[in-house]
Amino acid sequence: MRGLYVHIPFCAVKCFYCDFTAFSGQKSQAARYLRALEREFEMTRQGLSFDTLYIGGGTPSELSASEIAELLRNVGGEYREATFEASPDSLDAEKISALRLGGVTRLSLGLETAEDRLLRSVGRRHTWKDFLRTYDACRAAGFSVNVDLMYALPGQTLAECDRSLDAVLSLSPDHLSLYGLQVEDRTLFGKREVEVDEDLARSMFESALDRLAAAGFEHYEISNFARPGHQSVHNRIYWRNGEYLGLGCGASSFLNGTRRANHDRLGDYCAAVEAGRPPIAEAERLDGRRALGEKVLLGLRLIEGIDWTPEFDSAFPREKRHVVERGWAVLDDDNRLRLTREGVFLANKVFAEFVEPFRSPGPGALQEAAA
Ligand SMILES: C[S@@+](CC[C@H](N)C(=O)[O-])C[C@H]1O[C@@H](n2cnc3c(N)ncnc32)[C@H](O)[C@@H]1O
Ligand code: SF4
Repeated sequence: MRGLYVHIPFCAVKCFYCDFTAFSGQKSQAARYLRALEREFEMTRQGLSFDTLYIGGGTPSELSASEIAELLRNVGGEYREATFEASPDSLDAEKISALRLGGVTRLSLGLETAEDRLLRSVGRRHTWKDFLRTYDACRAAGFSVNVDLMYALPGQTLAECDRSLDAVLSLSPDHLSLYGLQVEDRTLFGKREVEVDEDLARSMFESALDRLAAAGFEHYEISNFARPGHQSVHNRIYWRNGEYLGLGCGASSFLNGTRRANHDRLGDYCAAVEAGRPPIAEAERLDGRRALGEKVLLGLRLIEGIDWTPEFDSAFPREKRHVVERGWAVLDDDNRLRLTREGVFLANKVFAEFVEPFRSPGPGALQEAAA
């Protein structure tokens, strides 16, 4: 299977925690950007076919209904799964209809928390009520829906975290992504030197795991939970180390064993494509130990773990022993190496054993892998 990722970098405002390739105040560049995406797709697709489509950001729902229709004319079509990310304050009936007509099957809504007080304190523009209205409209239109929630937000209590999750679970979404706040240097929170209380974060995550299991959600990836039959097909391609083509500024691709990343500045990206050049900022062939380490890292993100082949064992005998001895992973009877609950919480430490130097990919690892 192969995935197609399309990055839309526009946002109404920049949230205080977010370090994604996302710009506020740049919507006037949308027409130029959509033309560049179309051209990049022509230049780079090389006859490849794709099983899944993921349009992420930034906030793709910041595009107008006619821009969404244009984008989907270019990259839409018949996919096993076609996901579109949206913030709750930027979808309306016209956009929802353009998404439906363009073949989108799944919407991913960034809620973050159900508490209006906390939403304001992290720079979000929507309220819980806005979210409910949008969620109902998406469901009525027949979409499968994912909801993004965050925990360990500054000032958030355990009770508030539980309440947000319960409020979302009462709506029965198909899929839920749950990210612990990562404080990134270049964000407002990073500049303010916001600190995360790791013990409280741990309690929030533990409580969420129990509530999600009780509600019938399968925990299938470090940050992702699905009702049976609703795991993200596209994101599983990343975690299985499959191929994907990423279009747009800051997007990365993994094709033929080579990982490459596009320019992450809007102007550089558009200028390269307009000059007829692929907008690639860096490319690296992954082979040997490095390629194996990446496979382990991605595979361990899945709760089912990875088949621990002799190839992995001879490349990482010491590392495997370390993570098992510390109780971070187990090698089960089927010879699969998988994270324990402890390992899930300390995943970045586990990954650092296999890939050096390891930089935390952050909570949106799957999007960032492609963004
Ligand atoms: C591209 S956004 C989702 C769509 C839309 N832009 C929105 O925010 O509603 C991806 C998600 O990553 C999560 N995220 C981003 N930065 C994060 C951070 N620093 N720590 C934890 N989660 C983060 C948030 O849950 C966010 O909804
Ligand atoms: S969290 Fe979403 S809306 Fe907020 S800045 Fe990041 S990409 Fe934009």
